[in-house]
Amino acid sequence: MKNFSFYTPTMIKFGKRSISKLSRIIDGKYNRILLHYGGGSIKKNGVYQDVIEQLHMTGAKVFELGGVAPNPKLSLVREGIELAKKENIDLVLAVGGGSAIDSAKAIALGALTDIDIWDFYMGKAKVERALPVGVVLTLPATGSETSMGSVITNEEEQLKHSVDDDLLRPAFAIMDPEYSMTLPDTQTFAGIMDILSHIFERYFTNTPDVNLTDELSEGTMRNVIKNAYILKKDPKNYNARAEIMLSGTLAHNGLLGLGRDDDWASHRIAHQLSALYGTTHGDSLAIIFPAWMKYVYRTNPERFSRFATKVFGVSDAGKSNEMLALEGINRFEEFLTKIGLPRTFPEGNIPTDNLELMSEKAVLMGPIGAFKVLEKEDVLKIYNLAL
Ligand code: NZQ
Ligand code: ZN
Repeated sequence: MKNFSFYTPTMIKFGKRSISKLSRIIDGKYNRILLHYGGGSIKKNGVYQDVIEQLHMTGAKVFELGGVAPNPKLSLVREGIELAKKENIDLVLAVGGGSAIDSAKAIALGALTDIDIWDFYMGKAKVERALPVGVVLTLPATGSETSMGSVITNEEEQLKHSVDDDLLRPAFAIMDPEYSMTLPDTQTFAGIMDILSHIFERYFTNTPDVNLTDELSEGTMRNVIKNAYILKKDPKNYNARAEIMLSGTLAHNGLLGLGRDDDWASHRIAHQLSALYGTTHGDSLAIIFPAWMKYVYRTNPERFSRFATKVFGVSDAGKSNEMLALEGINRFEEFLTKIGLPRTFPEGNIPTDNLELMSEKAVLMGPIGAFKVLEKEDVLKIYNLAL
């Protein structure tokens, strides 16, 4: 196990009607709030009204900026930064999924600096301070409600990049699984893929002697898969929604990656699909992960064979690690099909004429990954395995 530091300061209020805790968290602490949200789902399902009711119970003045698009855009971030500076905002409150949260984090970061916000996403500037961010979560997926990351799309340059810093971890997160009941199936299951992918990015490692986090990861993956099947049949099942929501947070708050090298190549490779074609994040991961697995498993077949036996319960009798590895990947693909996710570019209706360019962009800031370090040619081969 490697040395590590671990910091998860986010206060979580989890469960039915946890929104009722919002006014007490805010009152007397935050006075000028920027309420930031997406394209309108919260106005249809009542979450917006719940939040406004709570905010009206406080002495805070509320400013609003809606319209965050999935794969949130730099232009709206810039608008938000301007507003936050002008109105002297002291809390950015995101209501929604990863896009609203990530956009809120970007605004919180940009509000306290004169450095161009995109410089942080290009690794040219270091995070020194940021406004606090609060979250009311409506879509369990990205883990952004406690994570250190924010992912923004520069629509002019067709680049999707992230900045990661502990200072971007939200101050608090309200997590009511009932808020996720209005999700269309497509988003529920894309979210589930994203949750699994955050575990994969950490689980597939060459760092030895990390058994505790391996076991925690395997338990979380089994639990996510089990509850995904429950939600496929019964989307209103509260306990399954709760299990998925909690899993989403644990998958990406850093716990499952303690003491090991994590990878993140698949995210970089998948981001190119969203940057160019606006593909839903979870769908892009469903397309890329099986291809990445097939490309890299020979680097460490033991790791993949453990995945097969511990996560999918594949029997190891008389099988080599290589056979088990392939069986595990196969079982994972079957799972994707059963929950209705695309597994290839054609299944996702994604054009295939920009693979060169996408490979170039994936390694724009240097080789990617740790399980197997990937250059442009490797990325291109992975795209080709997903056709
Ligand atoms: O915009 P509205 O109208 O609110 O609709 C949204 C959106 O269309 C809808 N939705 C959300 N909650 C709903 C709902 N519809 C009905 N009922 C509800 N309760 O769902 C759609 C997708 O929302 P979005 O926030 O875009 O999805 P997600 O949470 O998957 O976030 C994706 C973004 O997060 C980034 C992704 O790259 C992508 O840009 N990620 C952020 C990470 C982080 N900050 O740590 C890590 C992840 O790996 C990921 O990269
Ligand atoms: Zn993700």
